[in-house]
Amino acid sequence: MSRFRDINAAPPIEVFALTKAYTDDSFPKKVNLGVGAYRSDEGKPWILPVVKKVEEMIAQHIKEEKLNHEYLPVLGLDAASSAATRMLLGSESPVLKEGRAIGIQCLSGTGALRVGAEFLARILNCKTFYYSIPTWENHRLVFVNAGFSEVKEYRYWDAAKRCVDIEGMLEDLRSAQENSVIILHSCAHNPTGSDPTEEQWKQIAAVMKEKKLFPFFDCAYQGFASGDLDKDAWAVRYFASEGFEMICAQSFAKNFGLYNERIGNLTVVTANSAVLPNLRSQITLIIRGMYSNPPHHGGRIVAMVLNDAQLFEEWKTCIKTMSGRIIEMRKALRSQLEKLGTPGKWDHITQQIGMFSFTGLSPIQVDHLVKVHHIYLLQSGRINICGLTTKNVSYVAEAIHDAITK
Ligand code: LMR
Repeated sequence: MSRFRDINAAPPIEVFALTKAYTDDSFPKKVNLGVGAYRSDEGKPWILPVVKKVEEMIAQHIKEEKLNHEYLPVLGLDAASSAATRMLLGSESPVLKEGRAIGIQCLSGTGALRVGAEFLARILNCKTFYYSIPTWENHRLVFVNAGFSEVKEYRYWDAAKRCVDIEGMLEDLRSAQENSVIILHSCAHNPTGSDPTEEQWKQIAAVMKEKKLFPFFDCAYQGFASGDLDKDAWAVRYFASEGFEMICAQSFAKNFGLYNERIGNLTVVTANSAVLPNLRSQITLIIRGMYSNPPHHGGRIVAMVLNDAQLFEEWKTCIKTMSGRIIEMRKALRSQLEKLGTPGKWDHITQQIGMFSFTGLSPIQVDHLVKVHHIYLLQSGRINICGLTTKNVSYVAEAIHDAITK
């Protein structure tokens, strides 16, 4: 008799189950609008030209033994984390000038969320966190596994009007317990593709300040919302300028196309630089006990690109290519649906930003798309716009039309 006999099956991870179902499907016109990963107009993964170039440089350095595979320090490559923190807060940030922030290389955005959450739960004894309804499916699991015991939600999405439910959100934040941690998406909210306006961010910050709530930004899409790195960091920089202490998890999966290199950064902003050495030492032990130290490759790429003016410009061109193609595909899908006379309004597809569109399709319509048309998308109706191409967008629009009118 096995000691493991009483283990229950854990539920599948929707987004990865969908990728597997898509991969296993032999239908020639199948389309994957599930996992949030960029695709070229040929429907292929895209290695950014600047990343290829830097990887060739790294390979050469390794050949010449100028680089090696020794351990990184527990907190990672300082050249990567300090550049990432600068990219987030802005090079002119008073927080940086006053030495009030620390950057820590982590295992992509998820790793940064986990380290930040564990630090808050174990060292600062935080118990309650709030996430938006809806949010990225992993937020809850990461925070609960990190030690948070009180899971709360705040309203975010007005499904009828297809926009941010700012009144609902503010009301929920106003009634939140002091010192609760609030997960905020810094830009390109996943899954809705709808961010608060600058005015609304100011209202959110005012309530959070009054109620002493702690902001934890998830910044997975800097550059993807507007194509402009500074604009996409507006909310984080506004909170910093308002004097908040806060944490921000950055991912370089999407904007560098480094999905499986697990390169991210955790930025902690404090009111006072004197607290940083102790804070650093505590996070060092958290990471040491979790995975000891991060891998080097992704950190090297990010450090080389962010610290070199010419490579940085080349990278910004790559971001423009990706965000530009997304905008084109949004327009194409909307116009095809309008041409077909598909019931409903489709302007939200071009109004929403970032990788995702929250289509408003019901779970039954989603099932129909998957089972009948081999188009894979989340049950929530979220589609990854990058999965659309000039060749498959008509097929997808016709299938959505069929799902709605059948
Ligand atoms: C997504 O939302 O599809 C991506 O962030 C992939 C993931 O890990 O869920």
